[in-house]
Amino acid sequence: MAKFPFDIHATEGAARTGVLRTARGDIRTPAFMPVGTAGTVKGVYMDQVRQTGADIILGNTYHLMLRPGAERVARMGGLHKFGGWDGPILTDSGGFQVWSLSKLRKMTEEGVTFQSHLDGSKHMLSPERSIEIQADLLGADISMQLDECTDFPVSYDKAAQSMELSLRWGKRSLAAFGERSDQTLFAIVQGSNFPELRKLSAEASVAEDTAGGYGGFAIGGLAVGEGHSAMCETLSVTTPYLPADRPRYLMGVGKPIDIVEAVYRGVDMFDCVIPTRSGRHGQVWTDQGPYNIKRAEFAENQEPLDDAIQCPASQDYTKAYVHHLIRSGELLGAMILSWHNIAYFEDLMARIRASIAAGTFESFVTEFRANWSQPTT
Ligand code: GUN
Repeated sequence: MAKFPFDIHATEGAARTGVLRTARGDIRTPAFMPVGTAGTVKGVYMDQVRQTGADIILGNTYHLMLRPGAERVARMGGLHKFGGWDGPILTDSGGFQVWSLSKLRKMTEEGVTFQSHLDGSKHMLSPERSIEIQADLLGADISMQLDECTDFPVSYDKAAQSMELSLRWGKRSLAAFGERSDQTLFAIVQGSNFPELRKLSAEASVAEDTAGGYGGFAIGGLAVGEGHSAMCETLSVTTPYLPADRPRYLMGVGKPIDIVEAVYRGVDMFDCVIPTRSGRHGQVWTDQGPYNIKRAEFAENQEPLDDAIQCPASQDYTKAYVHHLIRSGELLGAMILSWHNIAYFEDLMARIRASIAAGTFESFVTEFRANWSQPTT
């Protein structure tokens, strides 16, 4: 399979900055991928997403297979054409969304059967079907192996069984993926908060390299309730087992402080719904943490959302106006905050990349920790 060239330009401690080169364009790392669950980054036009500096977006197998259906997306020319995004797309395999969203899911060795959260209809995902949907029908540049996101908290034995199932599903995903020139497949490391299981999972996935191998390695099963410091500890005992020359992707993370700490521990890629989901509820993200624009103190505040960020949403509207829009339930309020928040996250990634390149990331992290005023647990 294709392993996209990954040029690491600079490192500082475990942190790295570089470029992952795909046929649809370069991904500057560390990268934040806005989430385009159903073929749309909710409330934000694709050209606006591009304008924030995002190089890649994420799509979801689970949502798209249920609606409008993966075969229909394929008939419409694939996900890039259907959604109007010509840059790289990474799709999640569906395992996590089945785990978090669907009703009545049943795991077997073969795969997972589940009922749609939309209409209760029955569906099945196997490693083979997930690859068919992601790589053949949606046309993802980066597909993810089907995995089981382990419950949290969980006993060691259950975590081990779940992690081993994900390893077997990874092997089957690799076999189904086969040889492809412009598409790649990432493994997902599981193992809950048990260092030994994380090590086993990482080493076994990396060992598949002899059989063609994965184009990158994701870390799953985190940000599921374990808390910030436990997540950091798990990252610290996982990234050392992942190859230095392949991209590492922390799935579903996170808050700015989580991202900074994960880059510090050697992670290169992130995705999270936070900028758009919390934006729809009035949250504005900053280096200090989020605040809610609905608060009375903003009712007559004439400042822009954040004029340090090069984005029309951040610069062109006053806090008072956005306060009014969100309080009134106006669509534009959700759109402005979603766009601004993505721009904030992309700006943060640009500052992270620049500080690693300049050899000043250590002081960037120290300052970021000191400024962050929210609880981190
Ligand atoms: N998104 C967030 N966490 C996970 C995970 O553990 N597995 C998958 N497939 N997606 C995720």
